Amino acid sequence: MEQQIEVLRGEALEAIGAVSDQPSLDAARVRFLGKSGAITTLSEGMRHVAKEDRPRFGKLLNDLRQAVTSALEAQEIRLLEKADAAAAASLDLTLPGTFPGAGTLHPLTQLMDRAVKCFRRMGFAIADGPDIETEWHCFDALNTPPDHPARNEQDTFYLPDGRLLRSHTSTVQIRVMETTPPPVRIIAPGAAYRRDEVDATHLAQFTQMEGLYVAENVSLADLKGTLEFFFRELFGPDTDLQFRPHFFPFTEPSYEIDIRTEALGNQWMELAGCGMVDPAVFEAVCERRGDRVFDPESVSGFAFGFGLDRLAMNLAKISDIRMLVENDLRFLRQF
Ligand code: PHE
Repeated sequence: MEQQIEVLRGEALEAIGAVSDQPSLDAARVRFLGKSGAITTLSEGMRHVAKEDRPRFGKLLNDLRQAVTSALEAQEIRLLEKADAAAAASLDLTLPGTFPGAGTLHPLTQLMDRAVKCFRRMGFAIADGPDIETEWHCFDALNTPPDHPARNEQDTFYLPDGRLLRSHTSTVQIRVMETTPPPVRIIAPGAAYRRDEVDATHLAQFTQMEGLYVAENVSLADLKGTLEFFFRELFGPDTDLQFRPHFFPFTEPSYEIDIRTEALGNQWMELAGCGMVDPAVFEAVCERRGDRVFDPESVSGFAFGFGLDRLAMNLAKISDIRMLVENDLRFLRQF
């Protein structure tokens, strides 16, 4: 029996060592360790062994089973390593990857970000207001009389309940002063709406940036200095500005600003409205607040507003304003 065990050991170890894939390894396991495998069969022979020899042979058989088991395990690991190495060999780390296609910001957003950054450096905070507004915030509080053409049904989108889509971001001036005592120094970028026929230069929705600075002794010089600094930051130090007298119900005096700069083709371009906050606006805010912190006798302020769409278009040489909202990737990918 001892000899049989030795023969079987040699046979098993050789067979296992020669195995080269997982199925033959499984077959070898069944062949030697299986229910009717060689080792099991040999163990059954113990019945015919003399009682006193049984412990010795039992131990030899156990050793054999263990040797075969560890040989199977070792071979299995070797096979797995071989498979890994083969997989790694077919992996070319120098191949170009698949680019996920990082997006970029919309040209309008890029311009807005630059503008916001610049005003923040001057201490302006960002303010916000609803797109759906009351007539009072959009017109009455801004000293715009009931017969003003901007209030016309043909020019503004009215909701059945009398509210409207704000036709300018100047509403945020009122929203801020209603809740915040002076000093107030805010910008308010956002959407505005007008009942315009949509064409290459008009949309029913556009983007504005409002500004408001109210404190003691704010002067027209502050307004000029702030806007000159801003537009020169945006377009370069050789940008010319022109303040043209104009009229807005909510500022007095009022101006329109034209700028001329290399980046916009050296042509005068009408860009913004601005002026000193009209005392009537302060009075409307005081009445609503029920206090006098915005008493026009003690505070003054300037306000400005400009459209971002036309500016972004001129900077990026976009000829049709509709491209800004059509979401055509062939267009957007250029920025
Ligand atoms: N709200 C004005 C417009 O939309 C612009 C403006 C803002 C003018 C603030 C003066 C002061 O045309």
